[in-house]
Order: sequence, then structure tokens, then C-alpha cells
Amino acid sequence: MAFKITKMIDLDSIDFLVDVEAPEIAERFHPGQFVMLMTRKEGERIPMSVMKAEDGKLSMFIRKLGKTSKELRDGIEAFENVIGPLGHGVEEKVYGNILVLSDAVCGHAENYAICDALGKIEGNTITSVQTFPSKAEIYPDEYLAKNVADRHFITTEDGSFGDAGSYVTTLKRLLKNDVPIDFVFGGGKLPTMKAVSTILAINNIDNLFTTRQMMVDGSGMCGACRLYIDGEMKLACVDGPMFDSRKVNWTRAMKRYGMFKKEEKIANEYYEAHKGGCGQCQK
Ligand SMILES: Cc1cc2nc3c(=O)[nH]c(=O)nc-3n(C[C@H](O)[C@H](O)[C@H](O)COP(=O)(O)OP(=O)(O)OC[C@H]3O[C@@H](n4cnc5c(N)ncnc54)[C@H](O)[C@@H]3O)c2cc1C
Ligand code: FES
Repeated sequence: MAFKITKMIDLDSIDFLVDVEAPEIAERFHPGQFVMLMTRKEGERIPMSVMKAEDGKLSMFIRKLGKTSKELRDGIEAFENVIGPLGHGVEEKVYGNILVLSDAVCGHAENYAICDALGKIEGNTITSVQTFPSKAEIYPDEYLAKNVADRHFITTEDGSFGDAGSYVTTLKRLLKNDVPIDFVFGGGKLPTMKAVSTILAINNIDNLFTTRQMMVDGSGMCGACRLYIDGEMKLACVDGPMFDSRKVNWTRAMKRYGMFKKEEKIANEYYEAHKGGCGQCQK
């Protein structure tokens, strides 16, 4: 069964939004969960966070990075398969003063979904911080979590808008100003999550961060997404993807995430050169 793509628009120079019809998944989705996408039958499965599940459709923010995401942006009309929802979503309850942090495409999707769901629960106050590379790369207003948060800050890595640096800069400013924070959710780049985990440990703040790993099947069978939480092996796809950042072995997680760089480069080069025509990148 094909899953029809109903919308595809650019968000900035590299990220784009995709809406896909997947009513059964949309109905069961909880913020923090993800799906596995297949652009064609022989293709790889790529894990993708979900920003919104509404009216039988899933909205996703996708980065044009390598072979599969480029193939998708170059004009696919339907997914061969969408599998999910996968992983554990966040518990939808009262946390109090919630801070939601993100600095990359996957993190921004979760940021929106978490703010939207938890903001509807009385007793929660939501502050969202989203980091973009520069002012020119900030998503259009309607796709920012500011629509679903009580307070929203933007930081830019080059300092062209808002606080300069990553969301860590804004978190430090909030802590310095004694802004109450009861719980932090976050996602995005692994090095920023590693940096923030130290601050959250020093300040003893409970948190859950999406700890991205390479996923092959997304169902706990291949072992590709293993990581170490408090010294114990876990699978990001079935045990996560969110974990207490203070317990994650970030050094091992970062090392594993880069392990297919060579193969990804070859597939990307074939795709760029032949756009699928020679068949090499289909292998
Ligand atoms: C739980 C989860 C949620 C994600 N959510 C998003 C999202 O919302 N938006 C988004 O753009 N990306 C998201 N990703 C990353 C996304 O899966 C990769 O960008 C995608 O697989 C790239 O495939 P490619 O063929 O275009 O590029 P490739 O050239 O194959 O890879 C480019 C880079 O993408 C990452 N990547 C590649 N394959 C995988 C894989 N099987 N599993 C995990 N990471 C991979 C690696 O960092 C790699 O260097 C998520 C990953 C995980 C694990
Ligand atoms: S992706 Fe295969 S075990 Fe998690």
C-alpha cells in the first residue's frame, strides 16, 4: 500500500516539510515517537520524527542530506511504506514548568509535538528554545514551536538573531535569572545534548532527550541502534528514543552514529552523479 504525499515545501535552504496520509499511524501517535519511511521497495528504511499527527496525516520536517532524503525531495509522490508509530512517546501529564530545547531538524519536529501536547494540559507552562544556524535559516513562523508554547526563544549559531550560540546559551541565561524549570525535553545534535547533560546534572533537573542512533529495522531486531545508559545496553528504537541525558554514554553514542559515513558518501555520490539512472545507488 502506498502512502500518498499531500504536501512538500521548503522550510529553509536544506530542510523541507512533508505531509503524508497515514490515518492509522496518526491516530495512535504520541509526541516523541517516530516512524520509519521507505521511498521505494528496495530502498533503506529511514527513521523520522513526527511534528504533527492531525486529520489522518503525519507532518515531518526532513533534511536534504544524503541519497534517500534527496530522492524524496526530488519528486516522490508517495512512500512505499510508513511504519509506526515506533518508540515510546512522552507521558502526557503535569510536569509544571517545562523547557523544550532543539537545534536540528529532528529536534524541531519533537519540540513542536511535545509543546503542542503538553501545553494542552492544565498545570504545565511551556518554554521552547529553537536554535537555527542563522537568521536566514529560521523556519517560517507557522512551523515554529512558538505557536504551541507559552514562551518561545530563538538562538542562532552565528548570532544573527536572538542569543548567539546554541540553546545552551539560552538555558544558561534562564538558570542565571532563576527562571523555574521542573523538567526539560530536548533533541537535535548529539554534541549539544552532551553539553546540556552536564548542566542538567549540576542543576539536578529531570529530563528526557531523544538520543538518535543509526536505525536499520527500527524494531529491536538488528542491534544497530544500541547505546549505553548507566552502563547498560539499550536499543534506541524500542527502549527509547528518549533517555535521561545524564545517564547516556555520549562518547560511545557519537562514535557509533558516524560509523556508516563512508557508505553514505558513496551512495550519495552515485545518486548525485546519476540520479538513480545507472542503478548503482539502488543497491
Ligand atoms: C529516531 C530518529 C528520528 C529522526 N528524525 C529525523 C527528522 O525529524 N528529520 C530528519 O531530517 N532526520 C531525522 N532523523 C535522521 C534521518 O533518519 C537521516 O537524516 C536519514 O536517514 C538520512 O538518510 P539519507 O539517505 O538522506 O542520508 P545518508 O547519506 O544515508 O545519511 C546522512 C546522515 O543521516 C544520518 N543517518 C543516515 N541513515 C540513518 C539511519 N538509518 N538512522 C539514523 N540516522 C541516519 C547520519 O547522521 C548520516 O550521516 C532521525 C533519526 C532517528 C534515529
Ligand atoms: S534499529 Fe535495529 S535494533 Fe534498533
